[in-house]
Amino acid sequence: MAPLAGVTDKSFRRICFEKGAQGALTEMVSVKGIAYHDPKTAAYLQRHVDEKVVGLQLFGHEPEIFGQVLGELDDLPFAFIDLNMGCPAPKIVKNQDGSALMREVKLVEKLLKTMVKESPLPVTVKMRLGWSEEEKNFLEIGKIAEDAGVSAVALHGRTRSMFYSGKADWEAIASLKESLSIPVYGNGDIFTAKQGLERMQQSHVDGILIGRGVLGNPWIFAEMEALIEGRAYTAPTKKEIYDTILRHYHMVLEDKGERVGLLQMRKHAAWYLKGLEGNGKVRSAINASLNMEEIQDILQRFLCTEN
Ligand SMILES: Cc1cc2nc3c(=O)[nH]c(=O)nc-3n(C[C@H](O)[C@H](O)[C@H](O)COP(=O)(O)O)c2cc1C
Repeated sequence: MAPLAGVTDKSFRRICFEKGAQGALTEMVSVKGIAYHDPKTAAYLQRHVDEKVVGLQLFGHEPEIFGQVLGELDDLPFAFIDLNMGCPAPKIVKNQDGSALMREVKLVEKLLKTMVKESPLPVTVKMRLGWSEEEKNFLEIGKIAEDAGVSAVALHGRTRSMFYSGKADWEAIASLKESLSIPVYGNGDIFTAKQGLERMQQSHVDGILIGRGVLGNPWIFAEMEALIEGRAYTAPTKKEIYDTILRHYHMVLEDKGERVGLLQMRKHAAWYLKGLEGNGKVRSAINASLNMEEIQDILQRFLCTEN
């Protein structure tokens, strides 16, 4: 599962692992927030014991801060540390973080070398094709990462200028795979298991990251697994969707409390119900609901009664 700020928290990651995800990343976490012991940032540094392989994704750009933080972080419950070099959001880019790093080749080299040296865990990178159509340098950055001792690279096949428009360029992803000997993960526009398998076969990548395709559909991992193993896949029944939303809701409540939990679950519930006939009114009712009991009641009527 790709990192998704506001989505891939501990609770949703657990749901995805239960449905067959092989690995996940945290939401992006500010390395400065960790350095300054910001209590909100500390909440991102948790992993539930039931979770499988989880990478902690950091954003920032100062080698000194990364070096200090990684040197001090003992006993992290994660499998690897990932550097965010893909986020296109203006508030991130204006600080020289996220995809702005794609334009700072020398800084990237220094940053990755520092990370590899100081990190107690393997270091990975998630990047874009480059800043813009005219500045595509993923092959160069990929090589720098490999030479710096980075353990794997994930490439989202868009430039920063594209944000999320246009199409992810999987030929570019295939060319990165061809040019490096460390594992390369491809990312971009996989919304069905079939697309995922096709992309893997065509590009020969070592794995794929699925982002928007998991919103409301953690079953995409089970579907993918079935496809790879040549087994039949049955989509979840409405009752299974109901049970999953409730289980997810309970986890979020436990983790984040009633107020934040409610806001989060309104968003997730809308995604879970997407594509189901007659969901419009239900989504509006959920958005107007004030607590867990109300949401449960609305969902039960929609998903658990024959009509
Ligand atoms: C809501 C949202 C939040 C995201 N947050 C992150 C993030 O924290 N770190 C990151 O590297 N990429 C982030 N991304 C980018 C995704 O990981 C992924 O690269 C992108 O969505 C393309 O993959 P997809 O087509 O499968 O969604 C985010 C994307 C979305 C839509």
